[in-house]
Amino acid sequence: MLFLLLFASLAQDLPEGPGKDAVLQICQDCHALDTVTMDNRTKEGWKKTIAKMGDRGAEGTDEQFEAIIVYLTKNFGRTDVNKAAAEEIASGLGFSAKEAEAIMEYRKKNGDFKSWRDLTKVEGLDAAKVEAKKDHIAVK
Ligand code: HEC
Repeated sequence: MLFLLLFASLAQDLPEGPGKDAVLQICQDCHALDTVTMDNRTKEGWKKTIAKMGDRGAEGTDEQFEAIIVYLTKNFGRTDVNKAAAEEIASGLGFSAKEAEAIMEYRKKNGDFKSWRDLTKVEGLDAAKVEAKKDHIAVK
């Protein structure tokens, strides 16, 4: 009974969207869902992780794995501010086009960002807004 309640509350924590059912069906056989959701990854990172889970024995169709990659990238994704194009930075992190351009300019002038904190030095970016997004920012 307790297990069922826990299961129900965990299931509710996942945002709605295509791919959610596949995650619920496939990704909690071997570990809890919070193993999946505790750390955000880039799309490449999710692809690698899903492939690794396949090697470990996760079973599903190609369509399900593809849906899982898209779903996790959207909801538990990171954007690499050193590699992404301006549009990706804007859509992935919820910055305006102008803010994304400012990030690109800063990167061109100063080289790669070493930590999400460096983004707070970009002129025209609100430090609080950057900090709110820190779990979704990758610097690779
Ligand atoms: C056949 C068993 C199995 C299934 C099914 C499975 N995993 Fe895993 N997963 C593991 C093992 C083993 C580990 C490493 C030990 C741990 O963290 O519990 C792991 C760890 C992880 C980690 C932690 C980081 C890492 O790479 O070690 C993530 C993220 C993850 N799994 C995501 C998923 C996702 C997403 C799915 C659904 C597509 C999934 N797993 C399905 C076996 C599985």
